[in-house]
Amino acid sequence: MQRLSIDLGERSYDILIGSGLRKRAGEFLKAVLKPSRIVIITHPSINDLYGEEVAENFVAQGWATDIIEVPEGESSKNLGQAEKIYDHLLELNCDRKSVLVALGGGVIGDLVGFVAATYQRGIPFVQVPTTLLSQVDSSVGGKTAVNHPKGKNMIGAFYQPRLVVADLETLRTLPQKEYRAGLAEIVKYGVIADARLFEFLETNYKKILNLDSECLSHIIEVSCAIKARVVEKDEKESHYRMILNFGHTFGHAIESLTRYSQFIHGEAVSIGMVRAAQLSHSMGKCTEEVSKRLQALLKNLGLPVDMPELDSAAVIESLYHDKKTMNRKIRFILVNEIGSIEIVDQVSEAEILKVL
Ligand code: NAD
Ligand code: GLY
Repeated sequence: MQRLSIDLGERSYDILIGSGLRKRAGEFLKAVLKPSRIVIITHPSINDLYGEEVAENFVAQGWATDIIEVPEGESSKNLGQAEKIYDHLLELNCDRKSVLVALGGGVIGDLVGFVAATYQRGIPFVQVPTTLLSQVDSSVGGKTAVNHPKGKNMIGAFYQPRLVVADLETLRTLPQKEYRAGLAEIVKYGVIADARLFEFLETNYKKILNLDSECLSHIIEVSCAIKARVVEKDEKESHYRMILNFGHTFGHAIESLTRYSQFIHGEAVSIGMVRAAQLSHSMGKCTEEVSKRLQALLKNLGLPVDMPELDSAAVIESLYHDKKTMNRKIRFILVNEIGSIEIVDQVSEAEILKVL
């Protein structure tokens, strides 16, 4: 098992990565907290796969343990669903020492984190991420949110979990499309911070696609360590944390203009990273080789790299709604070379149009 820590003063916590850890989550939590009771929140399908095994280890610590099911999908990340969970927690007489356990991908993690941040002004929660994306990204760093009809993640809080338990075995049941989407975020970490990780992915992509445990453990650990270091420097995204959004600026525009129906998040980020690299090249920030290498790696990992047919003006308009855009200044994370990026606070429409 790998143990990483994220140092945020009194909000510090460990990220545990390894095989079979879901069955030991209670044992790990015991070293951190003394819960009055446990409430696991998950989707029905994940409950069928892993709910009992996870719950058993909490019960084994002597804690009353309940499971609440939430329907699958992004549409569950809303205030209505949060309210249903509050109702359940009140029925169970949950107090401020009750601990919520988010068992699932980023949808569950973001929703449960938001409920934990707000129920009785904040109760502890644990992330047990079961998708690759949630293991390397959403379970770490404390961004919690629900969506609003006018925009994704519009209602939320920075609220850190008390522990993250990432079990590599859960990835074996993950649909391949979801697995590949998670790989896009790992490529992102290589581009923004670690040329060696990028090279490792280039060399080992076949093993990675075959879920080789050693490779997986390595790339998940390195990714979490990169994210942890970024969050330690800028927990509330005053500026530096934006580097984690490399590829996401175009990615979010692609997702929203295709009405979230054509690509899942990591796929849109894959296309977005290629465009961001092309923009970087066209603005003289990097060589063409960088975008070619990035494109080749993403293709090898089975990810889409080509922009769908979209109206350029609509893409530009959508960029003005990006959370990084302030005072109508479109911000981009641009790449200098693999492993090194810069935040450019104002990129002109003319520059962007050149790569659309
Ligand atoms: P998801 O949570 O919707 O999971 C994808 C699908 O996989 C779901 O149908 C889920 O039921 C299924 N699934 C999950 N684990 C499984 C397993 N082990 N076996 C079989 N099926 C499994 O999607 P996601 O990609 O994990 O997360 C996307 C969400 O994460 C978005 O809402 C996004 O906004 C959010 N996000 C948050 C952050 C953050 O920092 N908080 C970062 C990135 C993304
Ligand atoms: N997923 C981007 C962040 O956590 O900041």
